[in-house]
Amino acid sequence: MKKCLLFILGFILLSFTACEYKFIDPIEVELPDEPVSFTGQIIPIFQDKCVTCHSSTSPILTTSNAYGNLINGNYIDTVIPEQSALYEKVNDGHPGGNEALNATELALILKWITEGARNN
Ligand code: HEC
Repeated sequence: MKKCLLFILGFILLSFTACEYKFIDPIEVELPDEPVSFTGQIIPIFQDKCVTCHSSTSPILTTSNAYGNLINGNYIDTVIPEQSALYEKVNDGHPGGNEALNATELALILKWITEGARNN
């Protein structure tokens, strides 16, 4: 009987940790002062972490037209960068969300948007 109770308790504890919200605060990450480069730093993140899913189902991040798609599709909000659809998506635990991106990559995306989301 005791064993069974322990098992149930363990199970409950485990389910709590499994549902834990994995929010990463990229503000904590220190990045160099120079501007983030879209082609040099952001596109490589998409290629590395996003296109596996996004090249066929929702091709917004396909390298050749990723910039146009993001801007035209209203994925970027340079006034309130944290509310950009692109940023919210990757930091809310969607399939390729913050489990796929590390804090530095998230910080780079946020900094790029804050700097005006330029096609640089
Ligand atoms: C494991 C597969 C997978 C990976 C990897 C992935 N995504 Fe997604 N993404 C999805 C699915 C499925 C949806 C649609 C469901 C949803 O909106 O949550 C989606 C939706 C989105 C949307 C909203 C699309 C729209 O048309 O509104 C954006 C933006 C996005 N993902 C960005 C990214 C970025 C940036 C990365 C890389 C850091 C990424 N995703 C990695 C599967 C993935």
